[in-house]
Amino acid sequence: MTDTSARVVVLFNHVDEDEYEKIRHVDPSTLGFEPEYDIHVATVMEEYGEVVKALRRAGFKARAVNLRDDIKVLQRLVRRPPDVVFNMVEHFRDDPELESDVAGFLDLHQVAYTGSPPFALSLCRRKGLAKHVMLAQGVPTPRYRILLDAKIPRRHGLHYPLIVKPSREDASAGVERESVVYDYPGLLARIEHVFEDYGPPILVEEFIEGRELHVAVWGNDEPEVLPIIEFDFSDLPADVPNIISYDAKWNPLKEEFHRVFTVCPARLSKRALRRVRQAALAAYHATGCRDYARLDLRLTKQDHPFVLEVNPNPDLTEGVSFMEAAEQEGYEFEDALRIITELALGRMPEPEEPEEPSESTASAEGG
Ligand SMILES: Nc1ncnc2c1ncn2[C@@H]1O[C@H](COP(=O)(O)OP(=O)(O)O)[C@@H](O)[C@H]1O
Ligand SMILES: [Mg+2]
Repeated sequence: MTDTSARVVVLFNHVDEDEYEKIRHVDPSTLGFEPEYDIHVATVMEEYGEVVKALRRAGFKARAVNLRDDIKVLQRLVRRPPDVVFNMVEHFRDDPELESDVAGFLDLHQVAYTGSPPFALSLCRRKGLAKHVMLAQGVPTPRYRILLDAKIPRRHGLHYPLIVKPSREDASAGVERESVVYDYPGLLARIEHVFEDYGPPILVEEFIEGRELHVAVWGNDEPEVLPIIEFDFSDLPADVPNIISYDAKWNPLKEEFHRVFTVCPARLSKRALRRVRQAALAAYHATGCRDYARLDLRLTKQDHPFVLEVNPNPDLTEGVSFMEAAEQEGYEFEDALRIITELALGRMPEPEEPEEPSESTASAEGG
């Protein structure tokens, strides 16, 4: 049940100029292709504003706080904490590795917050390490090698095609059509390119042909799998591999953005659905996710699922990705946000009772 008096701070960190602000004045007729969607998408600030408004509709006393890379903002927040922080921080000082430290800071100050604890946040940032952990717990994930320099022997033991990704990025950074390679010279060239742009470690992974499924999971004691999202790549030009590249995901000025569609719920056989759900839940548990997460999977023709990565702090834009799945299950945006908030409110530390000194402590102190 909603504690309507609960005060919620939607916490985020935004300092850069907004790319989506800049494309506000781009004329769609100059793109050279027919855009399927509006190219004037919401800015980052507008997205956070929508979350605040929806939480208010859900009955909370919500407000937004932008960290602006300023530790003092965080210190002020913990000095007079809200009942719960809705944690949407993804980086600090441009460093995604500090995402988990912000959560850790809240933990140390016993401020309840939504989403995963620091350990899951940092584990999942390290894609290679997360795969290692998943494999050890029987979660299927594509075969891979982690490279610490731009070299790989010709006999690397993996089967082509392969995909080369930076190991510590997310949101498809460094994933382009050229990421998929079909032979050794192509592999070497791509490794060198990724190494130059992102540095080590680099993840070289077997490319899983087949369907792409994104699975939203939420809950803690008995996490629930929301309706599964499938990506339809059939409108992509023939020379573009069926992947969600950076441009397909984020760049409304690129044709790919307008040629990849989602279907929710994905049409899956009973067997496929059972296996996908099982793999997603196993990955959620193995990586220590809490409250909610989105898992990216591929499914082979033989119905074998492979977990590509776990996103413990996924995009929560209304109507897309995690929220598309929630909507399909019958949860409006504000309902879904309320449920996530309530999961965190349930973890609020009990207020400390002023303690009467017992005899033994009194004598210990005295002695
Ligand atoms: N092993 C793989 N097989 C097939 N496609 C892949 C594989 N790894 C990545 N991709 C494609 O690249 C996209 C981005 O990769 P992902 O591992 O999810 O990283 P991120 O989303 O953090 O950039 C995936 O959604 C998928 O389309
Ligand atoms: Mg992904």
